[in-house]
Amino acid sequence: MSVLLTGGLGYIGSHTAVELLTSNEDVVIIDNLSNSDLSVKEKIKKIVEPVRKLDENSFKVYVGDVRDYKFLDQVFSENKITSVIHFAGLKAVGESVAKPLDYYDNNLISTINLLEVMRAHGVKNFVFSSSATVYGKAKSMPIYEDFETGATNPYGRTKLFIEEMLKDIYNSDKSFNFIILRYFNPIGAHDSGLIGENPNGIPNNLMPYISRVATGKLECLSIFGNDYNTKDGTGVRDYIHVVDLAKGHVCAVKKLKTNCGLKIYNLGTGIGYSVLDIVNAYNQVCGNKVKFKFVDRRPGDIDICYANADKAYKELNWKAERNLLDMCKTSYNFEKHNK
Ligand code: NAD
Ligand code: UD1
Repeated sequence: MSVLLTGGLGYIGSHTAVELLTSNEDVVIIDNLSNSDLSVKEKIKKIVEPVRKLDENSFKVYVGDVRDYKFLDQVFSENKITSVIHFAGLKAVGESVAKPLDYYDNNLISTINLLEVMRAHGVKNFVFSSSATVYGKAKSMPIYEDFETGATNPYGRTKLFIEEMLKDIYNSDKSFNFIILRYFNPIGAHDSGLIGENPNGIPNNLMPYISRVATGKLECLSIFGNDYNTKDGTGVRDYIHVVDLAKGHVCAVKKLKTNCGLKIYNLGTGIGYSVLDIVNAYNQVCGNKVKFKFVDRRPGDIDICYANADKAYKELNWKAERNLLDMCKTSYNFEKHNK
């Protein structure tokens, strides 16, 4: 009885694999390596093996594409899969504006394919990686799950379309259990320094950019705007440690086993930090190596975004436990290990 993780060699998927395996769940991963590599499999094993001996029955990795029906069908035939966590997808907002068809193709087709194969094999438990991006510009803070949704770019629209699709499927067949997890801003890395976020090229997101400045790989952080309506003028977000986020998935898989129907949860800390808060915390950890300058706002950015995560606490018994310094320390540690 295994949990299938699509995109399980990626940033969030690999941390979730570790947490599931150490919670005694068996794991099967499918990944097409478009944003990861096979070395992550060995790293997951290295982290887990001191706690639990792994073999082909407890941990298996398939290299392949979720859009390939025959391949997926084979994976489901060869394994006793009871739940699926669907991480696989493309996730860069700017790229999605330039190449919308790639995003609709990868994100939507993979999900439709996966749900069809699940239905054919009678697998009815599904966790979906959604994003706070589906709230667009929220009317007030903090953000609750019942707030209006709306997307402002093709990436966000794929998340929203998939959420709507899951609701339609659930309405037509109540034997499915769907948990939609809306992540806020995942950052940080595993304590081991073996797995973390390692984007190709110049990072778009704040934390990987800061880490590369702190380790001398990039010159200077550009802070996008210091005239927002926030305490210090820089953008405010709800940053959550990726290990906390991964643990949220273990709780979601448990919840699926209770035949929970369709549920939506925010996964965030409920705390908003500004860009300057992050830079200051990171500087405490790395010894003031993060140089920065203020530049114009980034088009499409919002001033402030943070979650109310009480529903996940009440219904999943989950809450984020790691603080901002933990997030900065583990990011810096990973970046130093990662040549
Ligand atoms: P990631 O790119 O590190 O991981 C995604 C993995 O999926 C990669 O290993 C990639 O190789 C694989 N993949 C992509 N398309 C595939 C396909 N068609 N078939 C098989 N494998 C495929 O991304 P991540 O940060 O771990 O994000 C995981 C999920 O969470 C994504 O759906 C993303 O949209 C969502 N999400 C991420 C963030 C974030 O900030 N990281 C925030 C909100 C939501
Ligand atoms: C981004 C995505 C969002 C996704 C989220 C998940 C964009 C526009 N949005 O959100 O869809 O759900 O990640 O993690 O990419 N910043 C700088 N300098 C930088 C980079 C960022 O000042 O070099 C600032 C931004 O203006 C923002 C904050 O840092 O205020 C966080 O930015 P980022 O890490 O890109 O995340 P989001 O924009 O919140």
